[in-house]
Amino acid sequence: MSHEAAPLPAVSRKSSPLSGKIRVPGDKSISHRSFMFGGLASGETRITGLLEGEDVMRTGAAMKAMGAHIEKHGDEWVIRGTGNGALLQPQEPLDFGNAGTGSRLTMGLVGTYDMETTFVGDASLSGRPMGRVLDPLRQMGVQVLKAAPGDRMPLTLRGPRHAAPITYRVPMASAQVKSAVLLAGLNTAGITTVIEPVMTRDHTEKMLQGFGANLSVETDERGVRHIFIEGQGKLTGQTIAVPGDPSSAGFPLVAALIVPGSDITIENVLMNPTRTGLLATLQEMGGRIDVLNPRNEGGEDVADLRVRHSDLKGVTVPPERAPSMIDEYPVLAVAACFAEGETLMLGLEELRVKESDRLAAVATGLKLNGVDCTEGEATLSVRGVPGGKGLGAGKDAAVKTHLDHRIAMSFLVMGLASEKPVTVDDANMIATSFPEFMDMMTGLGASIETIRAA
Ligand code: S3P
Repeated sequence: MSHEAAPLPAVSRKSSPLSGKIRVPGDKSISHRSFMFGGLASGETRITGLLEGEDVMRTGAAMKAMGAHIEKHGDEWVIRGTGNGALLQPQEPLDFGNAGTGSRLTMGLVGTYDMETTFVGDASLSGRPMGRVLDPLRQMGVQVLKAAPGDRMPLTLRGPRHAAPITYRVPMASAQVKSAVLLAGLNTAGITTVIEPVMTRDHTEKMLQGFGANLSVETDERGVRHIFIEGQGKLTGQTIAVPGDPSSAGFPLVAALIVPGSDITIENVLMNPTRTGLLATLQEMGGRIDVLNPRNEGGEDVADLRVRHSDLKGVTVPPERAPSMIDEYPVLAVAACFAEGETLMLGLEELRVKESDRLAAVATGLKLNGVDCTEGEATLSVRGVPGGKGLGAGKDAAVKTHLDHRIAMSFLVMGLASEKPVTVDDANMIATSFPEFMDMMTGLGASIETIRAA
């Protein structure tokens, strides 16, 4: 896979106005879950709009290795699942590459099976904490036969004969942890309960209900969600149209806001309220973003976004907004570089355990490119330079991306409005979530190119 290949640096330069209409690839969270739930359900699941990024393909390969049939017919992915409770022990370790969502959700999905499963990944994934998923699984009776120090991958799980249903209060705002426990509950007799004090993306709940799981949600008077799933029920194949990924849309969106004269439209973007924090923040900053043609497709809100260059101003982003824009802080920080005044982002502790320590990676990259910013334990403040004068470190000083696709894309967006070019050390990882990024951005008029070794 490309992230085991030699690094591929890339550079972006001040661009003329961006214009055009684009469709970003399918939502990554929904794409992973489509392969997983389709691979597990009885009968046929048909998926259009799937993100064909490396991360999602790893999940597809894992489901195949456990007995699902997955094929592509034209634009459609067709899956014949094993039936709930009938996954097979994989013959080889499951290699999840860079994918936290794929690996953590699959640990939940198979952890309660009476079989052995080994999980491996790349250097970034092998550095990420898995204890947050293993702790509740242990409570259900799952044994962690082997793990690298600190509950890290590579690791091997062995499920019990009969897993125990638990009630689990998720200690951090994490849709992956919530989902892992719910998926473990699918293969556990009785009712597994997840208590979610802070709401995170709800794709697992909505999609499992769509596949026929007996799952219900009650929200108490303090806004705490109680999610109940009854195990060992039947799941039935579905037809799914995956909407455009709002996290991927964030890159052309911020690019159009900061490049003078730009006017672009991004069609078919997922508008699930657990995912729209970036949009709300950019609108508060004065971003001219029109939400056009709002509609509901297959149970999810979607819309087209018209985005025009805007004079942005700094804002304070409250900590409670973090779950609805957790993957978008790197690109928000880039927007903040071109805003009048200071943007203060609060409640960022989870950024430390993403594909990289994103808080450190962003702050270091911004400083390298001449931005006045301050990194706190769980905060970031950025003082902007409208017009981008003095920003950009040129072609010889590259931002370290630490195998993190969103760090690479965010800094390539930054260069489009900076006085001097912005360079990143490796653009390979972009293929994990947004393989079309370079072509789509250059198609809008962005000046971005990879730098091949002479
Ligand atoms: C995801 C949940 C989030 C997010 C990730 C996708 C999901 O991770 O950062 O990109 O699909 O459930 P956390 O659960 O670690 O916050």
